[in-house]
Amino acid sequence: MILGYDEAGHGDVLLLVHGFPVDRRIWVDQLAGLSDIRRVVAPDLRGRGKSPTEETEWTIDTHAEDLAETIRSLGVESVDLAGLSMGGYIAFALLRRHPELVRSLILVSTRAAQDAPEYKTGREMTAERAAKFGTLALAESMIDKLLTPNAPSEVRDQVMAMFDDVPGPASAADSIAMRDRVDSTPMLASISIPTLVIEGEEEALLPKESSRALADAIPGAKLESIPRAGHFAPIENPKEFNRRVRAFFSTRE
Ligand code: MLT
Repeated sequence: MILGYDEAGHGDVLLLVHGFPVDRRIWVDQLAGLSDIRRVVAPDLRGRGKSPTEETEWTIDTHAEDLAETIRSLGVESVDLAGLSMGGYIAFALLRRHPELVRSLILVSTRAAQDAPEYKTGREMTAERAAKFGTLALAESMIDKLLTPNAPSEVRDQVMAMFDDVPGPASAADSIAMRDRVDSTPMLASISIPTLVIEGEEEALLPKESSRALADAIPGAKLESIPRAGHFAPIENPKEFNRRVRAFFSTRE
């Protein structure tokens, strides 16, 4: 399906893919802060916000196909692609299925490996909880892993509002989709487009050193660490985040 999105700016498209269990508004500060250098497009993945669907089951590849259709509908040949966490898993799927659509890659707070077998039950419990009680019911156990303890209360409120708005069935479907995702590690060495890996310095959800390992495995990739930020670095420290993205683009122009 063609996804609904927010956009700002003109020219080459920077496509921003959000993580779990939030929506396009996680990129609010990139729409505002990068629209002078790109046409910034932030879609809602299916099942939430501007991309409603009756369906309640999908895979990471389904999300990748939605992105491909959406990119084609924008009237451009390819995009600069940024994926945050689950958005990164989807970015790998898009790159595998439609490499011609991706001109450069920004991988934010994400990893290439698939879930360890012992983690799969956790995904099922998360899915069950979201389907039964709504996405907001996931907040208590997740929020401290997504933002640092010093995150401004407005940022915390913005993230909580997204938890509140994302329908439970969408989070349930995403959780199962993440459980079943394939290992993207084998493809890393063959990524030949410019790639930037970004981590929050105070990342609390991903294993330590995982962003470093990701950057090391992709030829020519650079790692940037964002101070005073955790997993959701784009919204927690947008100033530093946007500065690193600008620098990445400016070295190529
Ligand atoms: C995300 O931020 O998209 C998710 O927390 C990633 C995950 O659970 O693996």
